Amino acid sequence: MMGKKYIMALDAGTTGVRAIIFGKTGCIIGDASREFAQIFPKPGWVEHDAAEILESQIEVARQAINKAGICPEEIRAIGVTNQRESAVIWDKSTGKPVYNAICWQSRQTAEIVEKWVESGLTDEIREKTGLVIDAYFSASKIPWILSEVSGARQRAENGELLFGTIDTWLIWNLTGGKSHLTDYSNASRTMLYNIVKMDWDEELCRKMDIPMAILPRVIDSNGDYGTTKAALFGAEIPIRGDAGDQQAALFGQACFKPGMAKNTFGTAGVYVMNTGDKPLFKEGLTTTIAWGLNGKISYGLEGVIFISGAAIQWLRDEAKIIYTAADTEWYGFMVPDTGGVYLVPAFVGLCAPYWDMYARGMIIGITRGTTRNHLIRAGLEALAYQTKDIINAVMKDGTIAITELRVDGGAVKNSLLCQFQSDILGVKVIRPKITEMTALGAAYLAGLGSGLWASTDEIAEQWEVDKEFQPEMAPEYRDNLYHGWQEAVKLTRGWANK
Ligand code: G3P
Repeated sequence: MMGKKYIMALDAGTTGVRAIIFGKTGCIIGDASREFAQIFPKPGWVEHDAAEILESQIEVARQAINKAGICPEEIRAIGVTNQRESAVIWDKSTGKPVYNAICWQSRQTAEIVEKWVESGLTDEIREKTGLVIDAYFSASKIPWILSEVSGARQRAENGELLFGTIDTWLIWNLTGGKSHLTDYSNASRTMLYNIVKMDWDEELCRKMDIPMAILPRVIDSNGDYGTTKAALFGAEIPIRGDAGDQQAALFGQACFKPGMAKNTFGTAGVYVMNTGDKPLFKEGLTTTIAWGLNGKISYGLEGVIFISGAAIQWLRDEAKIIYTAADTEWYGFMVPDTGGVYLVPAFVGLCAPYWDMYARGMIIGITRGTTRNHLIRAGLEALAYQTKDIINAVMKDGTIAITELRVDGGAVKNSLLCQFQSDILGVKVIRPKITEMTALGAAYLAGLGSGLWASTDEIAEQWEVDKEFQPEMAPEYRDNLYHGWQEAVKLTRGWANK
């Protein structure tokens, strides 16, 4: 292992892929990223070209190696992390997907889920998988593809097709079709994995019409995922880490002890609290597996916002009122507040704590004096309001008190967001030095799997604060603002069904 001192994280997010090469101190020595196409075949549907994700991921990995100025032989291991829940089904002999990857955000399987609700699956799903029945999770995407694509169900039953979340798809391809694997954290987001018995749930699969032969094997998040084909990067590199991006960020934030939590502002906004070796259930939130590490499972309590950073992307790409995501800070600071405007980005429904597949986005409170700056600021503030909705659900029964929040993800470079988040929550917000926690977490898992780091204690020592944001807003003003948000959210509920 002499000279193998780097770990490469492959981070396949919802809107872009990234590769980062980390050194032993957790420092970044090279990185590259690229966005990929979002496909919207119908309102509320979101799909991705799985082949484009794969090609882009390989391309950015090669670029990161070049930028770092290292040889591929110096990379000790790869850690994979990914947008979770999104489903790909592919032909195991040709490697070709039979349909686009259906993104976690997509609402095209809502009718399937409704049928499951009518047949009384809600409680069974909650008890076995820890999840709230919803089109968000992978399960409903599988029968949708198998019935939409001609012949696919038969081929799946003949054992000719494979299913995977994006991690599984990447790992299968990177290893030349040798490893059909996922980790516990990703499995726990499919709505098919029994998080108490720790296995794919046969009965749920039967009731949901899912052939179990297509499911990957589930192993530790720092397990052995095989080796990349030498032709890809110029050397065979072991893949020794895999985790869903939100759980990876929890790992990167060094939240190793029960009670520690983080909030990631990515495409989605996701709060996860480590609950230790016991699953914890709370109304409106999901119970998930944080990771499996050396044979030991840690659970997480999670609250997801579907559209967080994606709201900023919408302001940029669809509304076209900013040029770059970073502009939101400059424009947002131009006004002291939104002038009473709220933007509720329920573009694909509302997730935790509302779970409304039919809510849709809305901008309200516009007056003759409303400017572009107010709208941009409203988009930015929506990220913080939604996080407050989640934190309120976590604290609702009074058993958990939150006094500070560790944040990460692309959007936290924006100090206006961090300050407003602290103000609206009334708690300290802590921004660490490295904000790419998803990739760092995947790297740490792979580094633990390949012996670069010896323990989580060693990793925890590397976590460093960049800036702390203290609440400055008067409580009465804060409560008024938040009341306005809650009223606005109510107006979006069930809209697509009206
Ligand atoms: O559950 C969805 C989540 O994994 C998406 O993550 O990083 O693309 O916002 P991200």
